[in-house]
Amino acid sequence: MPSDTRTGDVAIFDRIARLYDLKPATRRAKLAPALALADRPVERVLDVGGGTGQGIRALDVPTGVVVDAAPGMLSQARDHGLAGVRGDATRLPVADESVDAVLILDALHHMGQPEPVVEEAARVLGPGGVLVCLEFDPTTLLGRGLVTAEHLFGFDSRFLTAGDLAAMVRAAGLSASIPRTGFEYTVAGVKRF
Ligand SMILES: C[S@@+](CC[C@H](N)C(=O)[O-])C[C@H]1O[C@@H](n2cnc3c(N)ncnc32)[C@H](O)[C@@H]1O
Repeated sequence: MPSDTRTGDVAIFDRIARLYDLKPATRRAKLAPALALADRPVERVLDVGGGTGQGIRALDVPTGVVVDAAPGMLSQARDHGLAGVRGDATRLPVADESVDAVLILDALHHMGQPEPVVEEAARVLGPGGVLVCLEFDPTTLLGRGLVTAEHLFGFDSRFLTAGDLAAMVRAAGLSASIPRTGFEYTVAGVKRF
């Protein structure tokens, strides 16, 4: 497994961190259908590539931790009162089977290699826990526009279709489904007992 999947995108997020929350906040409704697939109460949530913590802030959970490679983004998350740990998505600083849900929202396409990131998320999920990935379909009209816009902005973004991401989640040993389809889709992966 590669030890680090950081790309130049992390440096960009570090620079724009103070402006990041100008983007609309993540709504719980987008994540709820995927989270509802968990076979255990969702109380401990890890937000991987969590940035300023919009994912955790959209939920009402007792324990939420943001892991991100960009210190500037983590600083914003901490300003919101969240716990933040600097780290790479392929080396999560938590024990095996220790969380109820892992969020990877609008982040996987910025990571160098998605497979080891998904495998690491599967490692830290407890039995019955759920991985929730929110991504953008590059084959839709809006998706094609987003690919162009992100590359013009300087990002190395590499987008997956929902089907390809679901296959990756399945290959990591999780039970995969696509609760939300379209330009902005979610893929869920439940760790079976
Ligand atoms: C578009 S932001 C999404 C932030 C948040 N998930 C949200 O929905 O608002 C992508 C985040 O992924 C982080 N990131 C990119 N590659 C990473 C890696 N290999 N490990 C950890 N974080 C990474 C970036 O620093 C950035 O904060």
